[in-house]
Amino acid sequence: MNKVIVTGGAGYIGSHTCLKLIEKGYNPIIIDNLSNTSIENVKGVESITNKKLNFYEIDCCDAKKINGVLKKENGIIGAMHFAAYKSVEESVRLPKKYINNNLKSLKSLIKVMQNNNLNNLIFSSSCNVYGRPDRLPVDENVAFKKAESPYAETKQLCEKIIEESTIFSVCLRYFNAIGSHNSGLIGERSADKPANLVPIICEVASGKREKLVINGNDYNTYDGSCVRDYIHVEDLATAHINALDYCIKNRSKSVFNVGTGQGLSVIETVRIFEEVNNIKLNCEIGPRRNGDVAEIYSDTKKSDKYLNWKAKLTVKEALKSAWNWQIKKKNSKISIL
Ligand SMILES: NC(=O)c1ccc[n+]([C@@H]2O[C@H](COP(=O)([O-])OP(=O)(O)OC[C@H]3O[C@@H](n4cnc5c(N)ncnc54)[C@H](O)[C@@H]3O)[C@@H](O)[C@H]2O)c1
Repeated sequence: MNKVIVTGGAGYIGSHTCLKLIEKGYNPIIIDNLSNTSIENVKGVESITNKKLNFYEIDCCDAKKINGVLKKENGIIGAMHFAAYKSVEESVRLPKKYINNNLKSLKSLIKVMQNNNLNNLIFSSSCNVYGRPDRLPVDENVAFKKAESPYAETKQLCEKIIEESTIFSVCLRYFNAIGSHNSGLIGERSADKPANLVPIICEVASGKREKLVINGNDYNTYDGSCVRDYIHVEDLATAHINALDYCIKNRSKSVFNVGTGQGLSVIETVRIFEEVNNIKLNCEIGPRRNGDVAEIYSDTKKSDKYLNWKAKLTVKEALKSAWNWQIKKKNSKISIL
């Protein structure tokens, strides 16, 4: 009983959320086609919790197969939908791939939920929906600006699809997820070359990548580099449990930011990584990257008040755990430490 469908549950944020679900007495039912991860994350959760998980290797765009899972599993109380492609850079090259997968997987899930009278959908949205926001910190009422990438557009469209559905829901607009569980057994296993700062830092630290290029030091920010709101993936995972409880109690549709409320620059993030892990990184300043917003960080008042949730872990802890994951990840060739 207390079963929760977790699409994309074998992925980075999904696997951490499965862990929290189990800790809180829920029973995650994972649906993942393993297109951007490995079964090792499922095994990692099983090993940490000493519990066998229900895992279905299914494409979420296949409504018939999802329906089969819902018919087979009794006692489902809601669904968390992580399954989507997430590379901003790839979405610019292959927009159709993103529109097809990210929209179709959500539509299939909603259709099956409606047909089975299942409510309580928690959706993985992103701060990318805001585009270049007019004010900072960005709160949930700030109007969406033009999407900066096809990926961001899929998140805007998905929120609209959810808004127009009949399902009780919570859209969580994540800021930048970093770090990993301290066991080093679950984490980001994306098939692509990383495009986000912290995984790139880890590659440079491990010698897999020659140097870190800081894209721009002439932005109008406190030290000239881009500013982001980095949230520990474990805090992010916990927010899903609170969101599910909120959704069940309130029987409504809502949207929440999930961030720390603190803006941290790229240069400062590199410095903290070096300090906590005692590693010197080879860095150079490069040109700005297309589509990068100078500065974005979250207004956390709404999630604090209604979800009773606040980020607890520090950036130092997150950057330490990110390096721990890099070291423990199978097949990683560590050249220093
Ligand atoms: N990582 C971040 O910082 C971040 C920020 C904002 C939003 N998000 C969103 O959070 C969600 C999870 O992100 P993540 O970082 O864990 O990514 P991830 O790639 O590690 O996880 C996504 C999972 O979904 C699976 N998947 C993709 N398409 C599928 C399909 N059609 N059917 C079944 N499984 C499918 C993948 O195999 C993968 O395991 C995504 O929706 C992403 O857009 C992530």
